[in-house]
Amino acid sequence: MLDHFRLDGRVALVNGGAGGIGSGLCLGLSKAGAKVVIADMLDEKILQEKAAALKAETGNDAIGQYVNVTDEESVAKMVNAVVEKFGTIDICINSMGINLKRPALEFPMEDWDKMFNVNVKGTMICCKHVGGLMKENKKGSIINLSSVRGIRGYTGGNSAYCGTKGAVELITKTLAIELAPFNVRVNAIGPSLVITPGTIHIQKDPELAEKYKALIPLGRLAQVEDMVGPVVFLASDASGFVTGQTIFIDGGATAS
Ligand SMILES: NC(=O)c1ccc[n+]([C@@H]2O[C@H](COP(=O)([O-])OP(=O)(O)OC[C@H]3O[C@@H](n4cnc5c(N)ncnc54)[C@H](OP(=O)(O)O)[C@@H]3O)[C@@H](O)[C@H]2O)c1
Repeated sequence: MLDHFRLDGRVALVNGGAGGIGSGLCLGLSKAGAKVVIADMLDEKILQEKAAALKAETGNDAIGQYVNVTDEESVAKMVNAVVEKFGTIDICINSMGINLKRPALEFPMEDWDKMFNVNVKGTMICCKHVGGLMKENKKGSIINLSSVRGIRGYTGGNSAYCGTKGAVELITKTLAIELAPFNVRVNAIGPSLVITPGTIHIQKDPELAEKYKALIPLGRLAQVEDMVGPVVFLASDASGFVTGQTIFIDGGATAS
Protein backbone atom coordinates (compact mmCIF):
# COMPACT_ATOMS: atom_id res chain seq x y z
CA MET A 1 0.00 0.00 0.00
CA LEU A 2 2.74 2.48 0.96
CA ASP A 3 4.41 1.86 -2.43
CA HIS A 4 1.64 4.00 -3.91
CA PHE A 5 3.29 7.03 -2.35
CA ARG A 6 6.75 6.34 -3.82
CA LEU A 7 8.00 8.36 -6.78
CA ASP A 8 10.97 6.19 -7.76
CA GLY A 9 12.20 7.02 -11.25
CA ARG A 10 9.56 9.72 -11.84
CA VAL A 11 10.74 13.06 -13.20
CA ALA A 12 9.57 16.01 -11.10
CA LEU A 13 9.92 19.56 -12.43
CA VAL A 14 9.72 22.21 -9.71
CA ASN A 15 9.28 25.72 -11.09
CA GLY A 16 10.37 28.22 -8.45
CA GLY A 17 12.42 25.30 -7.16
CA ALA A 18 15.08 27.52 -5.59
CA GLY A 19 12.52 29.39 -3.48
CA GLY A 20 11.60 28.84 0.16
CA ILE A 21 8.81 26.32 -0.41
CA GLY A 22 10.21 25.08 -3.74
CA SER A 23 13.55 24.04 -2.16
CA GLY A 24 11.75 22.02 0.51
CA LEU A 25 9.57 20.36 -2.12
CA CYS A 26 12.63 19.47 -4.23
CA LEU A 27 14.14 17.75 -1.20
CA GLY A 28 10.91 15.95 -0.32
CA LEU A 29 10.28 14.74 -3.88
CA SER A 30 13.89 13.60 -4.18
CA LYS A 31 13.66 11.68 -0.89
CA ALA A 32 10.49 10.03 -2.25
CA GLY A 33 12.58 8.75 -5.18
CA ALA A 34 12.00 11.31 -7.94
CA LYS A 35 14.56 12.75 -10.31
CA VAL A 36 14.20 16.46 -9.63
CA VAL A 37 14.56 19.49 -11.88
CA ILE A 38 15.18 22.69 -9.91
CA ALA A 39 13.84 25.34 -12.31
CA ASP A 40 14.17 28.99 -11.37
CA MET A 41 15.32 32.39 -12.60
CA LEU A 42 18.77 31.99 -11.05
CA ASP A 43 22.09 31.67 -12.82
CA GLU A 44 22.53 28.14 -14.27
CA LYS A 45 25.75 27.62 -12.30
CA ILE A 46 24.00 28.28 -8.97
CA LEU A 47 21.12 26.01 -9.98
CA GLN A 48 23.55 23.22 -10.90
CA GLU A 49 25.26 23.59 -7.51
CA LYS A 50 21.89 23.27 -5.78
CA ALA A 51 21.10 20.20 -7.88
CA ALA A 52 24.47 18.63 -7.04
CA ALA A 53 23.85 19.24 -3.31
CA LEU A 54 20.40 17.65 -3.58
CA LYS A 55 21.79 14.61 -5.40
CA ALA A 56 24.54 14.25 -2.77
CA GLU A 57 21.95 14.36 0.03
CA THR A 58 19.41 11.87 -1.36
CA GLY A 59 21.32 9.83 -3.94
CA ASN A 60 18.71 10.58 -6.62
CA ASP A 61 19.49 12.42 -9.85
CA ALA A 62 18.81 16.17 -10.00
CA ILE A 63 19.51 19.00 -12.42
CA GLY A 64 19.12 22.77 -12.37
CA GLN A 65 17.45 24.60 -15.21
CA TYR A 66 17.00 28.34 -15.82
CA VAL A 67 13.43 29.44 -16.56
CA ASN A 68 11.48 32.67 -16.62
CA VAL A 69 7.90 31.40 -16.34
CA THR A 70 6.45 34.63 -17.75
CA ASP A 71 8.20 34.00 -21.07
CA GLU A 72 6.59 31.24 -23.13
CA GLU A 73 9.76 30.67 -25.17
CA SER A 74 11.81 30.24 -22.01
CA VAL A 75 9.34 27.67 -20.65
CA ALA A 76 9.27 25.77 -23.96
CA LYS A 77 13.08 25.73 -24.02
CA MET A 78 13.21 24.50 -20.43
CA VAL A 79 10.71 21.69 -21.10
CA ASN A 80 12.75 20.57 -24.13
CA ALA A 81 15.96 20.61 -22.09
CA VAL A 82 14.38 18.48 -19.35
CA VAL A 83 13.02 15.98 -21.88
CA GLU A 84 16.45 15.80 -23.50
CA LYS A 85 18.06 15.05 -20.13
CA PHE A 86 15.47 12.85 -18.41
CA GLY A 87 13.20 11.73 -21.29
CA THR A 88 9.94 13.03 -19.86
CA ILE A 89 8.17 15.01 -17.11
CA ASP A 90 5.81 13.09 -14.82
CA ILE A 91 5.24 15.71 -12.13
CA CYS A 92 5.16 19.50 -12.40
CA ILE A 93 5.01 21.76 -9.35
CA ASN A 94 4.43 25.46 -10.00
CA SER A 95 5.95 27.00 -6.89
CA MET A 96 7.00 30.39 -8.22
CA GLY A 97 5.18 33.45 -7.01
CA ILE A 98 5.48 37.02 -5.80
CA ASN A 99 3.48 39.19 -3.42
CA LEU A 100 3.77 42.96 -3.70
CA LYS A 101 1.55 44.32 -0.92
CA ARG A 102 0.02 47.72 -1.63
CA PRO A 103 -3.15 49.46 -0.37
CA ALA A 104 -5.89 48.77 -2.93
CA LEU A 105 -6.69 52.41 -3.62
CA GLU A 106 -3.04 53.22 -4.32
CA PHE A 107 -2.17 50.02 -6.17
CA PRO A 108 0.39 50.78 -8.92
CA MET A 109 -0.89 48.93 -11.96
CA GLU A 110 2.64 47.99 -13.03
CA ASP A 111 2.92 46.01 -9.76
CA TRP A 112 -0.50 44.49 -10.43
CA ASP A 113 0.72 43.38 -13.88
CA LYS A 114 3.97 41.97 -12.46
CA MET A 115 2.06 39.80 -10.01
CA PHE A 116 -0.49 38.56 -12.52
CA ASN A 117 2.35 37.85 -14.95
CA VAL A 118 4.27 35.59 -12.57
CA ASN A 119 1.49 34.08 -10.46
CA VAL A 120 -1.23 33.61 -13.08
CA LYS A 121 0.25 33.83 -16.58
CA GLY A 122 3.40 31.97 -15.45
CA THR A 123 1.31 29.17 -13.93
CA MET A 124 -0.78 28.91 -17.11
CA ILE A 125 2.27 28.87 -19.42
CA CYS A 126 3.87 26.07 -17.37
CA CYS A 127 0.61 24.08 -17.26
CA LYS A 128 0.18 24.59 -21.01
CA HIS A 129 3.65 23.39 -22.02
CA VAL A 130 4.05 20.58 -19.50
CA GLY A 131 0.37 19.62 -19.91
CA GLY A 132 0.92 19.15 -23.66
CA LEU A 133 3.75 16.72 -23.01
CA MET A 134 1.74 14.87 -20.34
CA LYS A 135 -1.23 14.63 -22.72
CA GLU A 136 1.01 12.83 -25.24
CA ASN A 137 2.27 10.54 -22.47
CA LYS A 138 -1.29 9.88 -21.25
CA LYS A 139 -0.21 10.50 -17.66
CA GLY A 140 0.99 13.21 -15.35
CA SER A 141 0.36 15.22 -12.22
CA ILE A 142 0.49 19.02 -12.06
CA ILE A 143 0.39 20.77 -8.67
CA ASN A 144 -0.10 24.52 -8.50
CA LEU A 145 0.67 26.76 -5.54
CA SER A 146 -2.52 28.41 -4.40
CA SER A 147 -2.99 29.89 -0.93
CA VAL A 148 -5.64 30.32 1.74
CA ARG A 149 -5.72 33.78 0.16
CA GLY A 150 -7.16 32.20 -2.99
CA ILE A 151 -10.47 31.65 -1.24
CA ARG A 152 -10.47 34.30 1.51
CA GLY A 153 -10.11 38.07 1.32
CA TYR A 154 -7.34 39.55 3.50
CA THR A 155 -6.38 42.99 4.73
CA GLY A 156 -2.80 44.29 4.49
CA GLY A 157 -2.53 45.18 0.81
CA ASN A 158 -3.37 41.73 -0.54
CA SER A 159 -5.87 42.62 -3.28
CA ALA A 160 -3.60 41.60 -6.14
CA TYR A 161 -2.21 38.55 -4.32
CA CYS A 162 -5.69 37.28 -3.43
CA GLY A 163 -6.77 37.98 -7.01
CA THR A 164 -3.90 35.96 -8.46
CA LYS A 165 -4.46 33.02 -6.14
CA GLY A 166 -8.21 33.05 -6.82
CA ALA A 167 -7.28 32.78 -10.49
CA VAL A 168 -4.91 29.88 -9.75
CA GLU A 169 -7.77 28.11 -7.95
CA LEU A 170 -10.03 28.19 -11.01
CA ILE A 171 -7.28 27.60 -13.57
CA THR A 172 -6.48 24.44 -11.59
CA LYS A 173 -10.09 23.22 -11.63
CA THR A 174 -10.65 24.07 -15.29
CA LEU A 175 -7.44 22.41 -16.47
CA ALA A 176 -8.29 19.37 -14.33
CA ILE A 177 -11.50 18.94 -16.33
CA GLU A 178 -9.85 19.63 -19.68
CA LEU A 179 -6.89 17.28 -19.13
CA ALA A 180 -8.75 14.48 -17.31
CA PRO A 181 -9.49 12.57 -20.57
CA PHE A 182 -5.72 12.24 -21.02
CA ASN A 183 -5.11 10.89 -17.49
CA VAL A 184 -3.39 14.16 -16.50
CA ARG A 185 -4.36 15.33 -13.01
CA VAL A 186 -4.21 18.97 -11.95
CA ASN A 187 -4.43 19.87 -8.27
CA ALA A 188 -3.19 22.60 -5.95
CA ILE A 189 -2.01 23.12 -2.42
CA GLY A 190 -3.23 26.14 -0.48
CA PRO A 191 -0.95 26.94 2.46
CA SER A 192 -1.48 29.50 5.17
CA LEU A 193 1.66 31.51 6.07
CA VAL A 194 4.69 29.22 5.68
CA ILE A 195 7.95 30.00 7.45
CA THR A 196 10.68 30.40 4.80
CA PRO A 197 13.74 32.65 4.57
CA GLY A 198 11.31 35.30 3.27
CA THR A 199 8.93 35.06 6.25
CA ILE A 200 11.25 34.00 9.08
CA HIS A 201 11.06 37.52 10.54
CA ILE A 202 7.43 36.76 11.50
CA GLN A 203 8.41 33.67 13.50
CA LYS A 204 11.20 35.64 15.18
CA ASP A 205 8.86 38.44 16.30
CA PRO A 206 6.82 36.99 19.22
CA GLU A 207 3.99 39.54 18.94
CA LEU A 208 3.64 39.12 15.17
CA ALA A 209 3.94 35.33 15.43
CA GLU A 210 1.11 35.25 18.02
CA LYS A 211 -1.06 37.33 15.68
CA TYR A 212 -0.63 34.79 12.89
CA LYS A 213 -0.96 31.78 15.21
CA ALA A 214 -4.28 33.11 16.49
CA LEU A 215 -5.71 32.50 13.00
CA ILE A 216 -4.65 28.83 13.05
CA PRO A 217 -6.74 26.28 15.00
CA LEU A 218 -3.74 23.93 15.31
CA GLY A 219 -1.99 26.83 17.06
CA ARG A 220 1.34 26.92 15.23
CA LEU A 221 2.84 28.34 12.06
CA ALA A 222 3.40 26.12 9.01
CA GLN A 223 6.92 25.01 8.19
CA VAL A 224 8.11 24.07 4.70
CA GLU A 225 8.20 20.38 5.76
CA ASP A 226 4.42 20.55 6.29
CA MET A 227 4.04 21.01 2.51
CA VAL A 228 5.91 17.84 1.56
CA GLY A 229 3.44 15.08 2.55
CA PRO A 230 0.44 16.56 0.70
CA VAL A 231 2.58 17.30 -2.39
CA VAL A 232 4.06 13.78 -2.49
CA PHE A 233 0.51 12.44 -2.11
CA LEU A 234 -0.78 14.56 -5.02
CA ALA A 235 2.26 13.67 -7.15
CA SER A 236 1.95 9.93 -6.53
CA ASP A 237 -0.38 7.10 -7.55
CA ALA A 238 -1.91 7.31 -4.07
CA SER A 239 -4.00 10.23 -5.38
CA GLY A 240 -4.81 8.58 -8.72
CA PHE A 241 -8.54 9.49 -8.50
CA VAL A 242 -7.98 13.03 -7.18
CA THR A 243 -8.07 15.94 -9.61
CA GLY A 244 -9.29 19.54 -9.56
CA GLN A 245 -8.79 19.79 -5.79
CA THR A 246 -6.87 22.10 -3.49
CA ILE A 247 -5.48 20.69 -0.26
CA PHE A 248 -5.43 23.58 2.19
CA ILE A 249 -2.37 23.05 4.37
CA ASP A 250 -3.44 25.61 6.92
CA GLY A 251 -3.79 24.02 10.35
CA GLY A 252 -7.56 24.39 10.02
CA ALA A 253 -7.59 28.11 9.16
CA THR A 254 -10.17 27.71 6.40
CA ALA A 255 -12.27 25.14 8.28
CA SER A 256 -14.60 27.74 9.73
N1 LIG B 1 5.49 31.43 1.95
C1 LIG B 1 4.21 31.52 2.22
O1 LIG B 1 3.81 31.92 3.32
C2 LIG B 1 3.19 31.11 1.20
C3 LIG B 1 1.88 30.86 1.63
C4 LIG B 1 0.94 30.47 0.68
C5 LIG B 1 1.29 30.33 -0.64
N2 LIG B 1 2.57 30.59 -1.03
C6 LIG B 1 2.90 30.44 -2.45
O2 LIG B 1 3.87 29.44 -2.58
C7 LIG B 1 4.73 29.73 -3.70
C8 LIG B 1 6.18 29.74 -3.22
O3 LIG B 1 6.33 30.71 -2.22
P1 LIG B 1 7.71 30.93 -1.44
O4 LIG B 1 7.38 31.40 -0.10
O5 LIG B 1 8.56 29.73 -1.64
O6 LIG B 1 8.30 32.15 -2.27
P2 LIG B 1 9.83 32.45 -2.64
O7 LIG B 1 10.73 31.96 -1.58
O8 LIG B 1 9.89 33.88 -3.04
O9 LIG B 1 10.06 31.53 -3.92
C9 LIG B 1 9.51 31.83 -5.15
C10 LIG B 1 10.52 31.46 -6.22
O10 LIG B 1 9.94 31.77 -7.50
C11 LIG B 1 10.96 32.37 -8.28
N3 LIG B 1 10.40 33.19 -9.34
C12 LIG B 1 9.84 34.42 -9.25
N4 LIG B 1 9.50 34.86 -10.47
C13 LIG B 1 9.85 33.89 -11.35
C14 LIG B 1 9.78 33.75 -12.77
N5 LIG B 1 9.29 34.74 -13.51
N6 LIG B 1 10.23 32.62 -13.34
C15 LIG B 1 10.77 31.63 -12.58
N7 LIG B 1 10.87 31.70 -11.23
C16 LIG B 1 10.43 32.82 -10.64
C17 LIG B 1 11.72 33.22 -7.27
O11 LIG B 1 12.97 33.59 -7.80
P3 LIG B 1 13.64 34.98 -7.32
O12 LIG B 1 13.78 34.89 -5.84
O13 LIG B 1 14.93 34.99 -8.07
O14 LIG B 1 12.68 36.06 -7.74
C18 LIG B 1 11.83 32.28 -6.09
O15 LIG B 1 12.94 31.43 -6.18
C19 LIG B 1 4.24 31.07 -4.24
O16 LIG B 1 3.33 30.84 -5.29
C20 LIG B 1 3.52 31.68 -3.07
O17 LIG B 1 2.54 32.61 -3.47
C21 LIG B 1 3.54 30.98 -0.13
